[in-house]
Amino acid sequence: MHIHIGQNSEEIAQTVAQTLQRLLQQHNESRPFCIALAGGSTPKQLYEVLAQPPIVGDVPWTRVAFFFGDERAVPPEHQDANYHMAQTSLLKHIPSRAYRMAAETGAAEAYAQLLKEHLPHNAQGIPSFDLVLLGMGTDGHTASLFPGTKALDVQDQWVVMNDVPQLETTRMTLTFPVLNASQRIWCLVTGERKRARLQECFHHPDANLPIQRLNPTEGTLTWWLDQAAAPQTLPDSAKVTK
Ligand code: 6PG
Repeated sequence: MHIHIGQNSEEIAQTVAQTLQRLLQQHNESRPFCIALAGGSTPKQLYEVLAQPPIVGDVPWTRVAFFFGDERAVPPEHQDANYHMAQTSLLKHIPSRAYRMAAETGAAEAYAQLLKEHLPHNAQGIPSFDLVLLGMGTDGHTASLFPGTKALDVQDQWVVMNDVPQLETTRMTLTFPVLNASQRIWCLVTGERKRARLQECFHHPDANLPIQRLNPTEGTLTWWLDQAAAPQTLPDSAKVTK
C-alpha cells in the first residue's frame, strides 16, 4: 500500500491529475483505459483540474472510457447524481466515452453486463478496471458500500442495488470482488473530519469498516490524503511519500 500526503485538497487534486495524465499518456494498448469514477465532493476538484489547461489538452481522451463506482437513484441531470457532477466538472469538456449507472431504473445486472463487455478480465474472469477512484465517508463507507448493508458481503455479483437504511435510500454500487480485481485503486480522502476514521481504518483491523475491505488481489492500493486527513502515525507496511 502506498500513501501520498499532500498539503491540502488543492495540492492533492493537482498531484493526482498529473499522475493520471502520465498514466494515460503511457497507455499503449489498443483497448481504452477504463476508469471508474467516484462521487462526492472530494473528486470534483480533481475532475476540474483534469478538465482545464494544461492537462485537458495533453491527454489522449478518446482512448479513455469512464464508468462509475456508484450512483444515486435519480435521473442523470439531477443535482444529486454522481453522473451530473462528473458530467459538469469533466465529461462535457472531453471526448471520452462515459457509461453512467442508471440507478433510477435498478438495472444493476445490465451494468455488470456492460463491464463484462468493455473491460479486460482477470484470471478469475472478473472485469478489471485500469483505475478505480474512490472516496471515503466519515462512517468508513466507500462507493455506496455502507456499514451494515447487504452489498458488503456480495461475492457473486459485480454490481448491485444496495438499500442504505441510514440514508433512507437505495444506491447502485460496484461490489468488492470487482473493486478488488482492479489494477489500481486510488482513495482520495481530505479534510480534518475524515482523520479519526482513517486512523481507525489504518490501525484497527477489526473495526469492520467497509473501506477496510479494499484489498486488490493483483493491483495496487494508493491513498491520496491531505495533511488534515492524515493520521499522526501511518501503518509500518505503507510506502509513504509527501
Ligand atoms: C458518493 C460516493 C461516496 C463518496 C464518499 C465521500 O456517491 O457519495 O461515491 O462513496 O466518495 O461519501 O464523499 P465526500 O468526498 O463528499 O466526502
